[in-house]
Amino acid sequence: MAICGIDFGTSNSSVGILRQGQVFVVPLDNGSTSSPSAMFFRPDGATLFGTAAVDAYTQGEAGRFMRALKSMLGHKALATSTLINRKRVRFSDIIGHYLRYLKQAAEEAAGEAVTSVVLGRPVFYVDNDAEADRLAEDTMATIARQAGFTDVTFAYEPVAAAHAHADSGDSDVKDADLILVVDLGGGTADFSLLRKGAGGDMRQPEILGSDGVHIGGTDLDYRVNVDFFMPLMGYGGSMNDTFRTKVLPIPQWYFQDLATWQRIPFMYEPKIRTELREIRTLAQEPDKIDRIIEILDERLGHRLAGDAEAAKIALSHAQSTRTVFDYVEDGLAVDVARADYEATIDPQITRIVAASQRLLATIGEKAERVDAILMTGGTSQVPQIQRQFAKAYPNADLLMEDLFATVCTGLTRLAATRFA
Ligand SMILES: Nc1ncnc2c1ncn2[C@@H]1O[C@H](COP(=O)(O)OP(=O)(O)OP(=O)(O)O)[C@@H](O)[C@H]1O
Ligand SMILES: [Mg+2]
Repeated sequence: MAICGIDFGTSNSSVGILRQGQVFVVPLDNGSTSSPSAMFFRPDGATLFGTAAVDAYTQGEAGRFMRALKSMLGHKALATSTLINRKRVRFSDIIGHYLRYLKQAAEEAAGEAVTSVVLGRPVFYVDNDAEADRLAEDTMATIARQAGFTDVTFAYEPVAAAHAHADSGDSDVKDADLILVVDLGGGTADFSLLRKGAGGDMRQPEILGSDGVHIGGTDLDYRVNVDFFMPLMGYGGSMNDTFRTKVLPIPQWYFQDLATWQRIPFMYEPKIRTELREIRTLAQEPDKIDRIIEILDERLGHRLAGDAEAAKIALSHAQSTRTVFDYVEDGLAVDVARADYEATIDPQITRIVAASQRLLATIGEKAERVDAILMTGGTSQVPQIQRQFAKAYPNADLLMEDLFATVCTGLTRLAATRFA
């Protein structure tokens, strides 16, 4: 029976196995070591995963698209269901379906059954709610067992990232003593502070502590979507009350939920579309409400969120970016400038850095003593984040990792030790 490490991420997932004692991260779609945590359910009953799922959806194929389901762990919504091909399916079963896909990929690569897994987990699935957090891990363990794993254990994602360095030849890591591991993903920001083992050995790091906060790349997508895209769709607009005696703000939650990856499937319920048609008759700018109705009718919510993500990624390199919404209305477009984007995400970035500082405070270490920051996860590419960490840790070298496979590598290495 073989072992594996699974990094089930909010945005991307990876699975690793051992081959001749070495960690092997299994190529998923297109040979990539990480693949979008996405599924597409075709009307004929077939399910597509990863990039194939994203492509089918963006090409406008008929079917249901799901992404960012990890964010539902620890929340009641996970036990609810959604209609797929006229059948009610629970969200927890949808996650199970995805885990089985990863398990099967591991088994094909290993050539044997893979039944033991170390699953990565954020330090907090849910912030400030120990009960919900425990429930999230329990639920994930149950889902993994139902998917066919008999031995299921967990490791904090940043701890796994630290273990990925076991035989790191990186000279900067070699020279460092006190290291802050920073894993900035799609859903959460997670940190571990570690001291290298005796003789500066990365194979036996002493983990001094871990902390995290539920802020990630999807929250930055949300800000881009709500602050720059949604005003075109009626967000922030006004409407008359039913008796046309008062002017009221249009409820904001429609736009906010539509901009939240894991809430998008709920927005397609017929009741919501009926309410918005009612709002349209009262709205001061009905043309804009027509656009949100079009987005819901055509199930374009993930497309819009994907465009927000793409704009965010473009702004990691460019000073401004243009997004065209021809799929909503001919010629509809918006330009977002880097400066405006950075202003809108600043509170989130400050909270991420503050969570790392809280970790140091708990341990009783000083920021000045951190020699190196090992950064991993897609969101660590945001320039503003790199600047703020460099400022908060003035004596640390900022070392960027293989951004998408580090956690999985570490989890697999941990699996090798735990299931030895
Ligand atoms: N160049 C870039 N600039 C900014 N963000 C980026 C860039 N490339 C990828 N991202 C973001 O990185 C995030 C995905 O990172 P990653 O794959 O590490 O997350 P994850 O492991 O799925 O999430 P989590 O660990 O929080 O569950 C997404 O939000 C994606 O938009
Ligand atoms: Mg991750």
